[in-house]
Amino acid sequence: MKSGLLEETAVNRGEDKMERFIIEGGTKLEGSLSVKGAKNSMLPIMAASVLNCGQEDIVLHNIPDILDMHVMMKILQSLGAKVNFKDNTLVINVKDVDSYSIADELMTEMRSSIFLMGPLLARLGKIRVTYPGGCSIGERPIDLHFKGLEAMGVKIREEKGHILASAPDLRGTEIHLDYPSVGATENLMMAAVLAKGKTVINNAAREPEIVDLQNFLNAMGAQVRGAGTETLRIMGVKELGKCKYRIIPDRIVAGTYLMAAAITGSRLSLKDIISSHLDAVVAKMREAGVLIEATEDSLEVINGELKAVETLRTLPYPSFPTDLQAPMMALLTLAKGTSIITESVFEARFKHAAELNRLNAKILVEGRNAVIEGVNKLKGADVEATDLRAGAALILAGLAAEGTTVITGIKYIDRGYEYIEKDLQKVGARITRI
Ligand code: EPZ
Repeated sequence: MKSGLLEETAVNRGEDKMERFIIEGGTKLEGSLSVKGAKNSMLPIMAASVLNCGQEDIVLHNIPDILDMHVMMKILQSLGAKVNFKDNTLVINVKDVDSYSIADELMTEMRSSIFLMGPLLARLGKIRVTYPGGCSIGERPIDLHFKGLEAMGVKIREEKGHILASAPDLRGTEIHLDYPSVGATENLMMAAVLAKGKTVINNAAREPEIVDLQNFLNAMGAQVRGAGTETLRIMGVKELGKCKYRIIPDRIVAGTYLMAAAITGSRLSLKDIISSHLDAVVAKMREAGVLIEATEDSLEVINGELKAVETLRTLPYPSFPTDLQAPMMALLTLAKGTSIITESVFEARFKHAAELNRLNAKILVEGRNAVIEGVNKLKGADVEATDLRAGAALILAGLAAEGTTVITGIKYIDRGYEYIEKDLQKVGARITRI
């Protein structure tokens, strides 16, 4: 996300763009936290609200107050929708949505704007957008989105850096994704629900957020089956209507908090989560010596002597998620022995390693592998967040480090964590936003 709108949105939230976190390390955490709705569920579901053909409101509950939500709000409003956010609830009315063109600065501010392709093609039969662009973790191509949409009869051409897509008659078809892309799966689901006939998506992503999107679309009257498995079957319907929906808790925020407890040797419990969404994460943390007790809707970190894990490979769900790779790397900097992390999903998602090394970690990055030599302690320093999960990793390291850690670039963190410092302060962390 470039500085532009990010700062404007941040300033809208009454925050200065050069904010920093100051962390006094060495304090144990204690108590319990609950986790808000999932950013990566909320974004496609907000885009899917455009598929409502009626006059009435869509109401979404458990919505986190994060920057990406405000940006998606602006995108929907720029298309003619009325969107209100209050007390973690969104009310969206799309009856006047008639624009199919998204302003460049909105598209490049947040890649997830690409989620509007499916819904706008289904609703208006066309869309004009610019390429969402890459970010600090990789080039982020959207070729799989295009391949699937073209198979459904969408005509896509490029003109002066803009994508012009039109769908004279969107029709169901059988698609095999070369890679189980989360975004491509979601975009194609949203195009298929109003297409003529049946769509089958093979090698679909299986993330819990795909299941959430299926449940939301079906609540609007769609006929989607198979989310959570590698084969999605969608029967196109004539129109979709209003619904009220509560999105699932954020498994990545939950995992981040579990690791905050583990790295500070604390006892912390998380409530109102879906613990099965974190099975791979809990298994890997237990392998690293962390004692964790699980019930269906809670997880409790007890404590434990951290030990290195020989191999940690990020892969699509239900394997270990790439979004928790950076926080896990922070945890492993204090684990006895040598850990190796392989980042299989994104080609450039190790920028946090250099920042962790500034905190006295010992990490060597070679291509898709990072070799982490456990150290006895981390020492506070000035560091910079390069993306939201890298920022979360630096917070975790700062909580465990001796002395003071100053983190800049915290707007990235606010993209995906709702006032993270308030949650951490609640359980005893000495972290302040200045
Ligand atoms: C979603 O991104 C998430 N974002 C990411 O979360 C998450 O890391 C990622 O899925 C993987 O789980 C949202 O849901 C808003 P992909 P997405 O398409 O959809 C390649 C966070 O920190 N690819 O599964 O972009 C791509 O380059 C963010 O919350 C293609 O080659 O992920 C990448 O290497 C970061 N062509 C891999 O697939 C395509 O057309 C995974 O991408 C699409 C993707």
